[in-house]
Amino acid sequence: MAPISLATPHAGSLAASLAQSLRIAERRAADGATAVFRTDVVFGLSQPQKAVPPKYFYDETGSRLFDLICRLPEYYPTRCELEILKTRAAEIGALAGPRASLVEFGSGSSIKVRLLLDAMDKPAAYVPIDISGPHMRAAVARLAEAYPGVAMVPVEADFTQAVRLPPLGEGRRVGFFPGSTIGNFTPQAATAFLAHVGDVLGPGSALVIGFDLAKDHAVLEAAYDDRHGITAAFNLNLLARINREVGADFEPGGFRHRAFFNADESRIEMHLESVRKQEVCIGRHHFAFARGETIHTENSYKFSAAAVLAMVRHAGWRQRVLWTDPKGWFAVAALERDGEGR
Ligand code: AVJ
Repeated sequence: MAPISLATPHAGSLAASLAQSLRIAERRAADGATAVFRTDVVFGLSQPQKAVPPKYFYDETGSRLFDLICRLPEYYPTRCELEILKTRAAEIGALAGPRASLVEFGSGSSIKVRLLLDAMDKPAAYVPIDISGPHMRAAVARLAEAYPGVAMVPVEADFTQAVRLPPLGEGRRVGFFPGSTIGNFTPQAATAFLAHVGDVLGPGSALVIGFDLAKDHAVLEAAYDDRHGITAAFNLNLLARINREVGADFEPGGFRHRAFFNADESRIEMHLESVRKQEVCIGRHHFAFARGETIHTENSYKFSAAAVLAMVRHAGWRQRVLWTDPKGWFAVAALERDGEGR
């Protein structure tokens, strides 16, 4: 047997082989993510009420569609929250204090964060945590140009999972969780998540978080079933993504978008409804759909001020203030955690 040669590669090929192992590592990470996605989908479609977690909406197309949703006349949360953040920017800046680090959970296009960075006193770092890596990196590249003095530290991760923050300066750590994304969790999971955020940010930190408020049902339902069908496309894109990434055979016209307010649970529910009796396959898994049967794709809870206060307290946060827009449709809470800041 010929001996295996272990010659040291010269500099050029070392760089090339490093680049290659990086590509391999990236592909492995992507393969891992796809395997988890497949498992989540197969598990979800095996439940009596079929379901797929809403975090899977946000592939490239889904992220783009969500940005369009935010500009729809019917989708009031983005505009209401921006109005609150604009009005209260100086107060948020004071809460953060000098050289604070802003940690955003589920950053998306990172538009709202500009308002906060502008209002903060020499912000040290911006740490967006988002599952949609390419979309986030593009947004961060644009932000980096506008804020050359702020360290940009994107973290590509599911923000519900344990994340270790990179070392940040001595300023306060300020979490930012806008958009009422907290409403995607059941109340119990939301409370647990807020406690988790407190652990991630650490003692003495602050959290600025948006909550969509309960209101007229027609206003709520229009926001999740817009005239132009953008929300329908956003919901249906999930099936296209499942087809593409895990090799399912959902037929494009086989399902339709459904959104309604569930008053008992105080939440908007989005579903994909089978328009006929049909079967869908993922590898050796077969899923039978009756006509009218649905896949539950999202909950979007709508809160009362009292519910917000009770929940944040339960999760170990002190509520400094709860701001609302003039219509009282949306709320932004400023929370603090006890302890010595870092
Ligand atoms: C990003 C989760 C806050 O629930 O309003 C928008 C997502 N779904 N239209 C929401 C969404 C349909 C949005 N969140």
